[in-house]
Formats: sequence, structure tokens, C-alpha cells
Amino acid sequence: MIIRHWMDSPIFTYGRLREWRIFTRRRGDTPNAETGEVCNEINTYGRAVVIPGVTTEPATYAGEVVCMGVASGQGLLHLGDKKTTLRAGTTFFIPAGLRHRFQNTGDAELEFIFSRRSPGPSDSRAFACHHWSEDRHKNSWGSPMQGHWNHVPRGPGAGVLIADIPPRKFSHPHNHPPTIDEIWYVNKGLGWHWMRREYHVQSPGYALWLDPSELHSLMNPGDENLEFIYCASADNWTRAQAQKKPEKQPSTPPGLVTALEQKFSALAAAYRHTGLSVFGIDQNIEEVEKIIEALKKA
Ligand SMILES: [Fe+2]
Repeated sequence: MIIRHWMDSPIFTYGRLREWRIFTRRRGDTPNAETGEVCNEINTYGRAVVIPGVTTEPATYAGEVVCMGVASGQGLLHLGDKKTTLRAGTTFFIPAGLRHRFQNTGDAELEFIFSRRSPGPSDSRAFACHHWSEDRHKNSWGSPMQGHWNHVPRGPGAGVLIADIPPRKFSHPHNHPPTIDEIWYVNKGLGWHWMRREYHVQSPGYALWLDPSELHSLMNPGDENLEFIYCASADNWTRAQAQKKPEKQPSTPPGLVTALEQKFSALAAAYRHTGLSVFGIDQNIEEVEKIIEALKKA
């Protein structure tokens, strides 16, 4: 997994729109954590901002589809004469070649998390826009929440998904075909991202790109809601490819969820009891386990 804060990413300005490119498409076969060139399919993933009172210049991406989620603020999306209301929690999909502009109608920044990538066969669909409060029982593709998304009480999304993990809950550990991109961005709250035996703290502003073939889960160890913005390239042609070869996808080992829940509960209890810095969990796992043993005897 590769984690990067938007403030550590290069900034680009397009007229009145500013964007921070957190991750871009990789060069060669391996991801580069230093440069953020990690993605298999996504060309650009990042954070974009329009300041209050501003309307951006018209933009058109001829060869790319755009998926965006509103992390904060309010505004309008102009598509020709049509205006679509944007507010925190809105996600939308802009097909390739569709001219658009953004207007910030609020008194704070209008903030987006976005991805741009080449269109695939399943991307011939039209513009789509949803807010997570519209139907809390459907996923991005209009299906009932199930499987490893059954922890998500929000929906639907349009290319990206804005959802949450309640206090002391975590997403179901799972993995994917190796060539897709999956990026989790924490918008509010504090998360721990787990992959195999690794834990990484993920606080607001951090985006995390996963090696999708590894089992992974985002956990909420705190007492506040954890809001995340999920982005994957699985709408692209690799989804169809993956569905043709389900036998090659590794599955979750039996008992892993129960074992992980027990381990996580113990870690979270130790953290809350001792106040040990969550940043030290990765490096001090043995120390934490000793603390847990001491707590059991106390
Ligand atoms: Fe995943």
C-alpha cells in the first residue's frame, strides 16, 4: 500500500481550478511511491478546489472519463444550459468529451476528490450524479449492498463512492484482481488501514493506493464516524476480464475475519487504555501485544 497526503503532492492550476495530483499512472511495471506514479489504469487521481464566488473556465477531456466526489462545500456543475447542484456527499460521472464548468456558490472552498482515466467499454454511459442520502441500500451499480460492502450504510455513488464506517467497525477484508486500481481517501475521522500484517494510520487528507491482490480492510478504531471516499477503476474493461476468470482470484481464508476482529479489538482497547500514539502501532506491534497481555492480567 502507498499512502500520500494531498499536501505532499504537486499542484497544478487550470485557470480558476487548482488540483493536487496525488497519484498518477505508473511508468513501467512497478509503482513509485516517491513520485506517486502508482496507478495501473487511472491517469490522474487527486484533490481539486474552487474558491468561493468563482466559476471555472469550461473544460473538456476528450479521451478521459472523470469521476468526482464533493468532499466539502457547495456549488453548481454547469453542463451547457443545465445546472446540477453539488454539495458535500455528491458524486458524479462525466463522460469523455462533455464540456463542463464548476461554480462555487458557498462561502468556503468547494473541494473534490477526482479520478480521470481512459474510457472502457462499460463507460459509454451518460452523465450520472448521486448523493449518498438518496438510497442507502444500493451500491454504485444500483445493486443491493452485499458482500464486502455490507458495512456501507450510504449509497449510491457515481464512479466514486462516499460512505462511512461507524465507530469500532471495519470493512470486510477482501482482495481483487491485480490490475485494477483501488484508492481510499479519508475525509473525516481517523482510520487504520490494514493489509496482511501491516497497519497504517490514515487520517483526513491521506489517500491510500492498494495492491489490490492483497487482503485489505479500512478500520475505524475511534468513537467518531469515519467518512471515506472510495475510488476504483473496476468499471473499466478489467471488470469484465476479471469476471471471466473468477478462479484466479484468491479468497479470504476461513476464520480470518474473526481473528482480525479479535486482534483489532485488542489493539483498539490497548490504544484507548494507554494513549499510545497510533502512529507507533506499526513499529511497536510487539510492545502493544505486551501491553495487551498486561491488561489481561490487570
Ligand atoms: Fe477493495
